[in-house]
Amino acid sequence: MFERPRRGERAILVHITITSFKEQATLEEFAELAKSAGVVTVMQVTGTRKVPDSGYFIGTGKLEELKALVIAHQVEVVLFNHTLTPSQERNLEQALECRVLGRTGVILDIFAQRARSAEGKLQVELAQLQYLSTRLIRGWTHLERQRGGIGLRGPGETQLETDRRLLSERIKYLQKRLEKVSQQREISRKARQRAELSVVSLVGYTNAGKSTLFNSLTHSSVYTADQLFATLDATLRRVTLVDKTSFILADTVGFIQQLPHDLVAAFRATLEETRQASLLLHVVDATDPERDLRIEQVNQVLTEIDAGSIPQILVYNKIDQLTDYPARLERHSESHKTTKIWLSALRHESLDLLKTAIAEYLSTDLVQRWVRLPTQAGQLRARLYSLGTVLQERYEENDITVLEVQIAEKYLTQLLHSTAELKVMDIAKIS
Ligand code: GTP
Repeated sequence: MFERPRRGERAILVHITITSFKEQATLEEFAELAKSAGVVTVMQVTGTRKVPDSGYFIGTGKLEELKALVIAHQVEVVLFNHTLTPSQERNLEQALECRVLGRTGVILDIFAQRARSAEGKLQVELAQLQYLSTRLIRGWTHLERQRGGIGLRGPGETQLETDRRLLSERIKYLQKRLEKVSQQREISRKARQRAELSVVSLVGYTNAGKSTLFNSLTHSSVYTADQLFATLDATLRRVTLVDKTSFILADTVGFIQQLPHDLVAAFRATLEETRQASLLLHVVDATDPERDLRIEQVNQVLTEIDAGSIPQILVYNKIDQLTDYPARLERHSESHKTTKIWLSALRHESLDLLKTAIAEYLSTDLVQRWVRLPTQAGQLRARLYSLGTVLQERYEENDITVLEVQIAEKYLTQLLHSTAELKVMDIAKIS
């Protein structure tokens, strides 16, 4: 449908630093995107310009250099890490005599490869067609073929006009189908609400480990891969925690830097679960040197889709790759709710910390309690500490430890009842 780079195609990546631009996507990320799209990058071409050239984006010198490289390396597609105008793309293709794709085209291609649900596929096709309709320069004959082709072209209509008409018909058709699919989605959402199930949504920059965490938490086997955008559609699973708290866990599409705005709009429905969530697990690749910037970028998109004020737990993932980051959590100084957790989704390290934190958010508010523990209840004491619930500790005679804890009541009761040490030792006194 869409002229995408075919897998294994030989590509040159072009990244020009435009000094007048405040923010620019990095070449490293673009190289990852190209890898995800399945092309073989034979070369990266960089340069600096104050402003883009209106005709070719790059200057004439760079264009000549690129031309020679395309021939020398038998390149099939040139990928620009920039938003190209339709005419720039066309001019470049004519000059270089090979296909040229801008950043949006590359991202769309990856979306197209990854879309799994019917809704996701429709959204991707729609976004592709809307993108294409602004840059219709090539033939669109395969659409004619799809519909039989005969009698489609009116007398005197040029190929381009026919293409445009077919395109706009297809866009209308897709929009209608999408509307229907989102209505169905709305119905199932209402059913969930009746069942009083909260939605916890995994969000985060692409490749942070959302799908891996989704798997570890649900023990399901959603596809993960070390490629950008391994997940495109919101994938939903019901999770029940030990304290019987149930919720729907939603895996969502990964965000990326400078996701073109029209794409954010096209994938809004994919992020719909996120907007309805009671809690967001904002997954961060703790090993990413740019992790703080990534957090900011994700938060920006969340604000754009009206999910900026939903409570969040920042989940710093992949700590197994770091030397001085033990699994731990941080709580808000006043509300005492968990704000940050360090864990490894892949190694299942500290998942219990995360589950407890989720349970705390979903259950009614935290309570403050005094718990009296005999020395033999050392494991329970350690557990209360590791969960970050202890506010203070003091000792009484007969080796009794008194802890002041802040915790969801339901969870505390469940902890006390499940602790074998206490069954032996008489029940701990709670006041
Ligand atoms: P998108 O769908 O692109 O948004 O990615 P994602 O955030 O869902 O990431 P995914 O779960 O696909 O993980 C990306 C890569 O990181 C995979 O190769 C995972 O194996 C790896 N990964 C995830 N969690 C961990 C972890 O705790 N430790 C290590 N070392 N690798 C991890």
